[in-house]
Amino acid sequence: MKIAATQPFPGPAWDELPEVRALEAWPPASRLGGIEVLLEAHTRVGEEELDLLPDLRLVANYGVGYDTVDVAACRERGIRVTNTPGVLDAAVADLTLALILACRRRLVASDRFVREGRWSRGWAQPEQLGRDLAGSTLGLVGLGRIGSQVARRAEAFGMQVVHHRRSDGLPLDELLRASDVVSLHVPLTPETHGLLSRRRLALLRDGATLVNTARGPIVDEEALVDELASGRISAGLDVFADEPHVPERLLGLSNVVLTPHIASATVETRAAMTRVLVDNVLAFLRGEPLPNEVAV
Ligand code: DGY
Repeated sequence: MKIAATQPFPGPAWDELPEVRALEAWPPASRLGGIEVLLEAHTRVGEEELDLLPDLRLVANYGVGYDTVDVAACRERGIRVTNTPGVLDAAVADLTLALILACRRRLVASDRFVREGRWSRGWAQPEQLGRDLAGSTLGLVGLGRIGSQVARRAEAFGMQVVHHRRSDGLPLDELLRASDVVSLHVPLTPETHGLLSRRRLALLRDGATLVNTARGPIVDEEALVDELASGRISAGLDVFADEPHVPERLLGLSNVVLTPHIASATVETRAAMTRVLVDNVLAFLRGEPLPNEVAV
């Protein structure tokens, strides 16, 4: 059985796979027969890409979010899909807290201030003052595995945590009005696409911080850039609507901290994700139940 990968994945589990063909380009320039297993990360796998791999039987997605894979199209063609849940929650929660701290304490702007040689007086000036986490309110949109880990960390910092999810919590509009920091922890689905619309972004308090380590299209990015350019709110963004494109207007703003989709990017977590990816592929090759099969 031929296995192909859009990129290599780190960690010792990788060596347990039989030979893996490294794809030079994605999507491939022409039809590739004989590929039955595709290993990919955050890569578009839709009808057009599937047409190029006519023998495909498994898409093993490296990551918990599989929004770039057209699961319904795969199912129609008898192609199974797996993901890597459960091993990256702590890493994503850590980066979420890092972005909250970076925004609330003006970390990146302060770093730049020092590097640019602008520190000429003894103490921080009023415009450099940050905001305490303790006593502030964190609104979590989504309270699954990652959201719950963010909640635990935020509580340790003395934040009061409220949440919104389909089954319970505050109505979303109310949460947006009530929070000093809002952090997104829902998957990208047709229901969450554009969830933070222009109208909803306008509900954020003056001085509030929005953190997105989930998926860019959950937020109306143009509306967000407008809010940020006005200076009314700040944001910590690890994800964008059209990665790796980052809106030009964000680059000059000091009230935004930008990271390149690195929430799960630690040595330990990426190795654990490779372990899960490989376990799914090995189970598939042995004809065993797939540990993390994605349901349509
Ligand atoms: C995921 O697993 O979906 C994350 O976005 C990876 O960082």
